[in-house]
Amino acid sequence: MARLSFSAIIAILSFLGPSSAAPTHAPITINAVRNPDYKPDGRLEYARALAKWGGSMPDALAAHAFSKSKGDTGVVSAQTFVHDREYLTPIEIGTPPQTLMMDLDTGSSDFWVYSSETDATLLKNRTRYVPDDSSTSRLIPNSSWSIQYGDGSFASGDAYIDTITVGGIKVTDAVVESAKRVSESMATDMALNGIFGLAWGLKSEVTPPVPTVYKKMSPLLRHNLFTADLRFHADGTYQFGAIDRSKFTGNIHWTPLIPNAAYWEFDYSAFNVESSSVWYWYNWTGIADTGTSLMMMNDDVVKYYYDQVKGAVLNETYNIWIFPCETALPDFSFGLGNGRGNWSATVPGRYINYTTYDHVTSGGNKCMGGIQGNGGANFNILGDVFLKAFYTVFDVAGKRVGFADKPLN
Ligand SMILES: *[C@@H]1O[C@H](CO)[C@@H](O)[C@H](O)[C@H]1NC(C)=O
Ligand SMILES: *[C@@H]1O[C@H](CO)[C@@H](O)[C@H](O)[C@H]1NC(C)=O
Ligand SMILES: *[C@@H]1O[C@H](CO)[C@@H](O)[C@H](O)[C@H]1NC(C)=O
Ligand SMILES: *[C@@H]1O[C@H](CO)[C@@H](O)[C@H](O)[C@H]1NC(C)=O
Ligand SMILES: *[C@@H]1O[C@H](CO)[C@@H](O)[C@H](O)[C@H]1NC(C)=O
Ligand SMILES: *[C@@H]1O[C@H](CO)[C@@H](O)[C@H](O)[C@H]1NC(C)=O
Repeated sequence: MARLSFSAIIAILSFLGPSSAAPTHAPITINAVRNPDYKPDGRLEYARALAKWGGSMPDALAAHAFSKSKGDTGVVSAQTFVHDREYLTPIEIGTPPQTLMMDLDTGSSDFWVYSSETDATLLKNRTRYVPDDSSTSRLIPNSSWSIQYGDGSFASGDAYIDTITVGGIKVTDAVVESAKRVSESMATDMALNGIFGLAWGLKSEVTPPVPTVYKKMSPLLRHNLFTADLRFHADGTYQFGAIDRSKFTGNIHWTPLIPNAAYWEFDYSAFNVESSSVWYWYNWTGIADTGTSLMMMNDDVVKYYYDQVKGAVLNETYNIWIFPCETALPDFSFGLGNGRGNWSATVPGRYINYTTYDHVTSGGNKCMGGIQGNGGANFNILGDVFLKAFYTVFDVAGKRVGFADKPLN
C-alpha cells in the first residue's frame, strides 16, 4: 500500500489516422434503450454474473436463482423477472427486417436469438426470429452451438446465415444462432430477444466454426472499434466505427489489453474511496463487461469500500453487501493505466446504490450495493455500474480499451 497523489494528466490521443481498409459506411449510432421499469432482482443478477464468470457462490444464492433450472428446459417457475435487463438495443435480422431487442454484451461472443425453433414453454409471446419469414435466411447444414455456464444454465441450437442490420449497416451472410433450448434461469426476461456478443478475442461457439457478427461487420466500418455511452437512469448509445468527441470531455485514457486477452481485459493499479486521500496500489486485472450490471471486485477491496459506509453489512447467506438505503455511498476511484497513466476514473457513489434489498426479512429499509465480491473469479468485472460513469472505447484494431470522463447525470 502506498500513497499517491493523482495530479494532472498527460494523455496523448494519437488516434484515428487514415485507415487502410476501404470504409463504406459513415459511423453509426444505435440506442441502448433503457427499460423505464428496470428493477433488478439483485440476488438473481449477482448469481448470474458469478455463474457467467466462474465465481463461487453460497448455496442459498444458487438456490434462489437457479434451483428450478438445473438442466431443464421445461416448466417455467412462477417467478418471471420481466425487468432484469436495463438496456436493450434494436437489431434487425432478415429480409424484410425483423426487429429484435438484444443485449449488447462485451463479455461474450455469440450472436444468439430466440426463434421460432425455441422451446415454446420458454418462448411464450416473446418477440422472436422467424427464419422462414426471411428471404435471405439459410440454415447452415449440421450446425450447432451451445453455451454453458458453471451453474448448469445454458442455451443451444442451430445456426442460420442471414442479413443483420445494425443501425443501418447491412451485414450480409452473418451467422445468427437460433436457440432451440434455453435453460429457464436464462429465459426469465421476456423483453430480451437475444444477445449480441462483442468480446474481444473469443470465437463463437458455433460448429462448424464461423466468424462472429462483429468480424463480418468490421470491414464495413470506418475504424475497427465501437464505443459505449451508457447512462445512469437514461437511454445510452453504442456507436460503431468512430469516436464521437461531443460525447466526452478531456482525453481518452488508453489501456492496452493484457496478452492473450479473451475479453476486454486490462490491468489497473490503484483505487481510492472518497474522502480518504490514500490510494491503494496493487496490480489488478479487470474486464469491461456491458453484459454484467454490477462491479465485482476482490473481496478485500469490497470490504474496504463498505467499511467506509455506516451501517453496511455483509449478508452472509447470500454473500451480498447491503446498507441502509438512506446512507449516501462514497465515490470509488480507479487508478487506470497500469502505472503508465495517472488518471483517476471516478464512479460516483449514487451510481453504486444498486437496488432495494428484501425489506421485510433484512430488517428495514436496506439497499444492495453495486459493488460486490467476484467470488474468486480470475479478474474483476467492471459492469454497467462502472461503465455508466465513462465514455468507453473498445478499440479492436488497437487491442486496447479507452475511458474518458463525460458529463454525468
Ligand atoms: C504522474 O504523476 C507524477 C507525480 O504527480 C508525475 O511526476 C508524472 O509525470 C505523471 N505521469 C504521467 C504519465 O502523467
Ligand atoms: C406478453 O404477454 C403479457 C401478458 O400475458 C403482456 O404483458 C406482454 O406485454 C406480452 N409481451 C409481448 C412482447 O407481446
Ligand atoms: C450432415 O450430417 C449428415 C448425417 O449426419 C451427413 O450425411 C451429411 O453429409 C452432413 N452434411 C454436411 C453438409 O456436412
Ligand atoms: C501485473 O501482473 C501481470 C501478470 O499477472 C503482469 O504481466 C504485469 O506486468 C503486471 N503489471 C505491473 C504494473 O506490475
Ligand atoms: C438508493 O436507492 C433507493 C432505490 O433503489 C432509494 O430509495 C434510496 O433513497 C437511494 N439512496 C440514496 C442515499 O440516494
Ligand atoms: C440475509 O438476507 C436474507 C433476506 O433478507 C435473510 O433472510 C437472511 O436472514 C439474511 N442473512 C443474514 C446472515 O443476515
